[in-house]
Amino acid sequence: MASNRENILQRDNHRPVAVEVTGLGKCYGSQEVLTDVSFRVEPGEIFVIMGPSGSGKTVLLRHLAGLESPTTGQITINGCDPTLAETRDRFALALVFQSGALLNSLSVYDNLALYPHEHRLGSKPEIRDRVMRALRILSIEHAAHKMPSELSGGMRKRVAIARALVMEPQLLLYDEPTSELDPTMAATIAEIIGSLREEYAVTSVVVSHDRDLSLTIADRVALMHEGRLHTVAPPADYRASTDPVVADFLNPKIDLKNPRFKNLEAKPS
Ligand SMILES: Nc1ncnc2c1ncn2[C@@H]1O[C@H](COP(=O)(O)OP(=O)(O)O)[C@@H](O)[C@H]1O
Ligand SMILES: [Mg+2]
Repeated sequence: MASNRENILQRDNHRPVAVEVTGLGKCYGSQEVLTDVSFRVEPGEIFVIMGPSGSGKTVLLRHLAGLESPTTGQITINGCDPTLAETRDRFALALVFQSGALLNSLSVYDNLALYPHEHRLGSKPEIRDRVMRALRILSIEHAAHKMPSELSGGMRKRVAIARALVMEPQLLLYDEPTSELDPTMAATIAEIIGSLREEYAVTSVVVSHDRDLSLTIADRVALMHEGRLHTVAPPADYRASTDPVVADFLNPKIDLKNPRFKNLEAKPS
């Protein structure tokens, strides 16, 4: 079998990939988390999966990254199975974790260089070039020698994206890239996601519960609802939609009669 390095050298020349999900179902024990999910992401597309908390978005993204195996159905990346290491190496599938998943004992530079060193993706100077390029694209060269504990929330997200970029991926998967950020920083991250598509000719799948982000950056948006794919459509269709599940997600109403809000009800004075 070819080594990791040979696989990477044989990789198609950074052409964005297509993702095909067919009848995907996932159970953990008796809990069914995903049910009959099917969609296709076109090469170079920014495809956003939005939905409320607990609707199965992260589980779905982990399947695309090859970190979980389907209970039923299948997933392919340009026809290949993402649970195989050779597929992940060939297309350099990269997942940007919600938490950033940085190693706290390593500097930003060392966090970024770790994977390329371990997988021998080049000589030391070549890896240095890759790392510095990723830091430059995200405008965070000045943070190369900082420790993760010294980073703000926005910086941490940028470092997490840069770490994915050093793999020179053909598929970039983002889990909640704007969670816990203020609106200005969230807008910056949205711009970065758009510009990376151009710079790296990458296919992007973004998971988010952030309605504004989803409808701003996406070519198409999938709405997850209770483990099923409710709708796949361009952003404009969502804004015009009268579907009750879509409307409920885009314009949630607080029902003050709901027992959860009983403490909020006006009390007679
Ligand atoms: N490894 C796991 N084992 C058991 N249940 C899980 C596991 N991962 C996720 N779940 C469950 O799957 C459901 C969907 O989770 P998740 O995909 O994280 O939701 P979202 O990202 O949309 O907020 C939740 O009910 C969660 O508890
Ligand atoms: Mg999640």
